Amino acid sequence: MLVETLAQDTVTQFAIDVRLGLTKKGQKEIPSKYFYDEVGSALFEVITVLPEYGLFRADERLLRENAETIAAMLPPGRVVVAELGSGSGRKTSWMLEALATQRPTVYHPIEISRKALDQCSRELGQLRNVEIRPVQQPYLQGLLSVAASRGSDERLLVLFLGSTIGNFSWCAAERFLTEVRQALTAGDALLLSADLEKPPAQLLPAYDDPLGVTASFNLNVLARMNRELDADFDLSAFRHLARYHAAERRIEMHLVSTRPQSVAIPRAGCSVSFREGETIWTESSHKYRRGELMEIGRHAGFRALRQWLDGEWAFAQTLFVAE
Ligand code: AVJ
Repeated sequence: MLVETLAQDTVTQFAIDVRLGLTKKGQKEIPSKYFYDEVGSALFEVITVLPEYGLFRADERLLRENAETIAAMLPPGRVVVAELGSGSGRKTSWMLEALATQRPTVYHPIEISRKALDQCSRELGQLRNVEIRPVQQPYLQGLLSVAASRGSDERLLVLFLGSTIGNFSWCAAERFLTEVRQALTAGDALLLSADLEKPPAQLLPAYDDPLGVTASFNLNVLARMNRELDADFDLSAFRHLARYHAAERRIEMHLVSTRPQSVAIPRAGCSVSFREGETIWTESSHKYRRGELMEIGRHAGFRALRQWLDGEWAFAQTLFVAE
């Protein structure tokens, strides 16, 4: 019953955000968090194994190689791990295993999708010495409840992996880390992953793969509006577009209307018309420079302890401590 009520709330918030984003003046937009319904999450899992999408493997390699070092750099005593966006949990197992060989470890995946939480609990459930306590809440709200429930002798390690930080604008990223810092106590740690600036010729195929998985991932947001909001989007009348905005240093994903058309979205209480070539902006993935990560961390109230770079795909993990 609780889960059903929550699902209902999410649909309502989805309807509100769709209406806001598609009826406003100028560039139409849908927040990228709406990619991740059941179909979208499954498509993202496929993206992570595409050869063109080097981000995921870089992140996993870094964790595999450095998890023990990271575990050893944390203050002694009990550690509570809180992960913002659990995903499948595949990468996280490296960190949890390294911690659990040293000390009892509690792991809170924080995520709004019940399905993702279940999958992550299944995937990580067999780890010895790790207690899993899923939190079905938005990131900051979840982090605040984890922080409030920890014991006075427990240190928090926040994981924000996968380069999800890239979805925030430059300002919003710093604001978000500031809010994360405010939920923490001095001495708590944050491990932050971010994709780094690299040649567009290498970056673009990661967001426009020849198999068309990313195109399907993008178009799924239209299919989701058809499923959940009774919309009548004709998916064949939109195409996937990924482009690199050099000045902003970000990949942008859009859905391009290939003809003039009008679409009814009854459960969002609106009808939307598109010109030929008009786009819905669905995602930004900002590409960082190494120093920028240290800097936004510092502005947010953290001190960078160490940064690791992947040798194959320009990608960084930075370990911060709250000051
Ligand atoms: C999960 C947000 C890190 O921006 O690279 C993958 C999502 N979008 N392919 C990213 C995504 C297109 C991904 N993040």
